[in-house]
Amino acid sequence: MVKIGIITGSTRDARVNIQVAEWVKSIADKRTDAEYELVDIKKYNLPQFNEPVPAILSTDYQAPEAKVWSEKISELDGFVFVTAEYNKGVTSGLKDAIDYLYPEWNNKAAGIVGYGSTLGVTAANNLRSILSVPKVAVVGTQPGLSLFTDFEDMRTFNPAPFHEDTINTMLGEVVAWSTALKTIRN
Ligand SMILES: Cc1cc2nc3c(=O)[nH]c(=O)nc-3n(C[C@H](O)[C@H](O)[C@H](O)COP(=O)(O)O)c2cc1C
Repeated sequence: MVKIGIITGSTRDARVNIQVAEWVKSIADKRTDAEYELVDIKKYNLPQFNEPVPAILSTDYQAPEAKVWSEKISELDGFVFVTAEYNKGVTSGLKDAIDYLYPEWNNKAAGIVGYGSTLGVTAANNLRSILSVPKVAVVGTQPGLSLFTDFEDMRTFNPAPFHEDTINTMLGEVVAWSTALKTIRN
């Protein structure tokens, strides 16, 4: 059975991100097709990226936090990224978390759940582009949540019920591609 990490995409103390990530995890936990785990980038305390060599060249990480992060991502076969939208892109915390690693991401699959005033679509598409370089295959179904209709006062997450179906469609695609890609990793 493949292992799928549900990765948070915002690290600020006042983030709504964790509410969305926990909701995705609660839907995933009703399924029996994979092992799902919440992977909160905030808990890894990654410093602002300052490695002397990019991970594509060396995984001898200088930051001790990066070694712990590397071990976690290495364990996983696929991912669901829950992304906020900051100035039409992903947060710097998520970008650094991706940039730290390279082989740990390679030949794995991912889904993206976005949220924002325009469903996080621009950030999600930005993330698709970013993930293409470390060879993460992003599935087609891309759930998007509205700050205006899926949150109360833009703070308290209260999603419309229909989103659960879209999340399940996305999870099915991530499990299928994660299972397939596992066969080409050694
Ligand atoms: C620096 C910054 C930039 C933002 N830019 C956008 C944006 O481009 N599009 C958007 O829909 N929301 C934008 N927002 C609003 C965020 O979607 C909203 O604050 C959301 O709660 C952020 O997610 P978080 O609480 O999990 O950090 C921005 C918020 C911040 C703090």
